[in-house]
Amino acid sequence: MTIRHFIETDIPAAAELEQRCFSDPWSQKGLRDTLREERACFLAAEDENGRLCGYLNATWVLDECSLNRICTDPGCRRNGVGAALLDALQNFCREHQIVFIFLEVRESNTAARNLYRKSGFLETGKRPHFYDNPDETAVLMQWTAE
Ligand SMILES: CC(C)(COP(=O)(O)OP(=O)(O)OC[C@H]1O[C@@H](n2cnc3c(N)ncnc32)[C@H](O)[C@@H]1OP(=O)(O)O)[C@@H](O)C(=O)NCCC(=O)NCCS
Repeated sequence: MTIRHFIETDIPAAAELEQRCFSDPWSQKGLRDTLREERACFLAAEDENGRLCGYLNATWVLDECSLNRICTDPGCRRNGVGAALLDALQNFCREHQIVFIFLEVRESNTAARNLYRKSGFLETGKRPHFYDNPDETAVLMQWTAE
């Protein structure tokens, strides 16, 4: 598995992953707009056959970064793809003097919460009714560069 920059030709496969991974999937247009954003870190994980098996999108302002999206193809999970994407984002932050990464995660999303904890994120608070479809509390998490 390789981590590389997300590129325009990844969009169709990413839109399919969105449908399979999220209740509020991003469209191809949404992905294309996101790809054009400045101050963004958009990373792809590619398997040995050149297939997109996951990706991550984050944006930053000054020394603060927000993790907007991370997902792994359901057929590729528990193989370290999510952890490798986060590790690459953390390296990107260190290289760009970005000190904090913030994110929100559904309270019931045990897989993601465990992934973030394992990658050094701490839970800093909760925000009731943050999500809809379905309504749910968000857990706020933060990573701080050393
Ligand atoms: C969350 C997600 C990205 C994890 O991706 P992944 O590639 O399977 O993660 P990894 O294989 O790198 O797992 C790293 C660690 O996360 C935790 N983890 C991952 N999946 C887990 C699960 N189903 N149950 C419990 N812990 C889990 C474990 O601690 C794991 O380490 P281990 O395998 O050594 O025990 C993936 O489940 C996903 O795409 N979910 C749907 C989209 C989503 O919820 N995104 C986050 C929105 S905030």
